[in-house]
Amino acid sequence: MDGNGRWAQAKGLPRLAGHKAGVEPVREMVKACSELKIPVLTLYAFSTENWARPQDEVTDLMGLLSFALRREAEMLHKNHVRLSAIGHLEGLPQSVRTELERTIERLKDNTGLRLNLALNYGARQEIVDAVNRLIAEGRKSISAEELSGALYTAGLPDPDLVIRTSGEMRVSNFLLWQIAYSELYVTPVFWPDFSREHLYAALADYQSRQRRFGRL
Ligand code: FPP
Repeated sequence: MDGNGRWAQAKGLPRLAGHKAGVEPVREMVKACSELKIPVLTLYAFSTENWARPQDEVTDLMGLLSFALRREAEMLHKNHVRLSAIGHLEGLPQSVRTELERTIERLKDNTGLRLNLALNYGARQEIVDAVNRLIAEGRKSISAEELSGALYTAGLPDPDLVIRTSGEMRVSNFLLWQIAYSELYVTPVFWPDFSREHLYAALADYQSRQRRFGRL
């Protein structure tokens, strides 16, 4: 969900205004993906590298996350959404963890869209954690399937499509193992401006592609 800061800057607003404006597209994408029967939507909301931002911005983002989770729980429930989170959740402020746990618990019996939030998430750390888990279990050698099963995303399908907003041509430590064969879609649109129409354009582009998974 990239481009909140630049969206705000372009309007002469503080960066927090961009993050606040970024909550509306989150709501829209959850509703749109639910309607389209997309099974899983993973949102990269906070990376392990994001702690290096100014303390004020980190505090604001954490406040916004717990506020948005509390405010949107009812909307998520109405849309039959189930919630999960990946990342080092123990490193998040207690207020965010409490709100997250409460919302996950409230939505746990829902059978619609699985909304997966990447929070304090980094893909290299995820792979290192998985390998260490397998070592702790006494494994001497492992298969690709076993490694997949030890990642935070165990049980979830690999993403078919990765959408990156704000025009950045980078993967930025996001689901590195899982996106080996994902289709990538980069749009110049800043996240706060990302609308249903932009999602539909990304999906139409995805549908026009031929996925070969390394085969002919
Ligand atoms: C990246 O833009 C965005 C973030 C680091 C925060 C994303 C979080 C939200 C939209 C809050 C709501 C989320 C949920 C799940 C309720 P940036 O600040 O890197 O933008 P820039 O590259 O233009 O500076």
